[in-house]
Amino acid sequence: MLQGKKPITCLNMGFFGLLALLFLVVTGCAMNRGSDVRIGVAMPTREFQRWNQDGANLERLLRQDGYLVDLEYADNDPQLQISQIRQMITEGCKVIVIASVDTGALGEVLYEAKAKGCKIISYDRLIMNTDIVDYYATFDNLGVGIMMAEYLEEKLGLAEGKGPYHIEFFAGGPDDSNAIFLWEGSMEVLRPYMENGQLVTKSGENDLKSCAIDHWSVEKSHARMKKILQEHYSDGTRLDAVLCASDSVAFGALQALREAGYSPEAGNMPLITGQDAEKRIVKAIMSGEQSMSIFKDTRLLAAQVASMVNAIVAGREPETNDIGNYDNGVKILPTFLMRPELIDLENYREVLFGSGYYSDSDFEE
Ligand code: BGC
Repeated sequence: MLQGKKPITCLNMGFFGLLALLFLVVTGCAMNRGSDVRIGVAMPTREFQRWNQDGANLERLLRQDGYLVDLEYADNDPQLQISQIRQMITEGCKVIVIASVDTGALGEVLYEAKAKGCKIISYDRLIMNTDIVDYYATFDNLGVGIMMAEYLEEKLGLAEGKGPYHIEFFAGGPDDSNAIFLWEGSMEVLRPYMENGQLVTKSGENDLKSCAIDHWSVEKSHARMKKILQEHYSDGTRLDAVLCASDSVAFGALQALREAGYSPEAGNMPLITGQDAEKRIVKAIMSGEQSMSIFKDTRLLAAQVASMVNAIVAGREPETNDIGNYDNGVKILPTFLMRPELIDLENYREVLFGSGYYSDSDFEE
């Protein structure tokens, strides 16, 4: 026991002691808050369920990992997204995760990111025509198109030579590289049946340019389907299938079909594809209006990207599983590719409820 020494208290520790205590408190607080590394997350729009989930999932996971997170939505406006990214760079973001509005329009701002040593992860949508993008994480978009087309091939019995059937195509937004991959995937399967006459597009519109729906918009899809039904199917011609590139596009097409008297009860619903397993489309699957959707578990994509961010910040190489296939026109991107899953009336409960993606309460009115 040390004799003659007073216990150290704030009263007798002196000015430098107090200063040291203050330093400990301040740095201690900073450590509790986690690191001061800032990460940007640039999402395209709040309009569709999935991007809200993607943004929220990423924000939560990155915060849990101790980062400061700048999450922004661009209202489908490429210029707004560029200014949001510029702001993230100015604020010192170390990594920016981008799901771009226009996958070919980011060019310039990425140079500014590079100059500041900021790394870019292309999220879900492939950023095109630039070497200033470091990693890519997505679902297999070519695969999504193939799955949709194979579904129609099977349900219509095309491989057995059945037909001719009437089909219409509703593609994604022309400025989104995913729309192109998906289109190519679906055409790989369906083109032979279009060429041999088993599939007939009465509107005459069967190339990506004429079938593209700007920003995958519900309203634009609705308007196009309404016009096609009026001009080509109001004489009673049966519409057998509609290849819709997403649930948003399918939702618009469904509205027009309902308005024109199509319903499961009337027995005249065409087969309709979609992707995203949006709640409103799962409801339509339950009611027999929509045939299928593609489930892309956004929770897993966000988790994969959060771990990419951790690796980059720690100076490690992020995990990728596809190193040769995603060429953005300038660079082949190291990619983490995830597997999408088809859902329909038969398996939606098992896949969506079984995985905890939805629960019954999500569908109570
Ligand atoms: C995504 C789809 C989504 C679409 C519209 C695409 O880039 O891959 O999941 O449906 O954008 O938001």
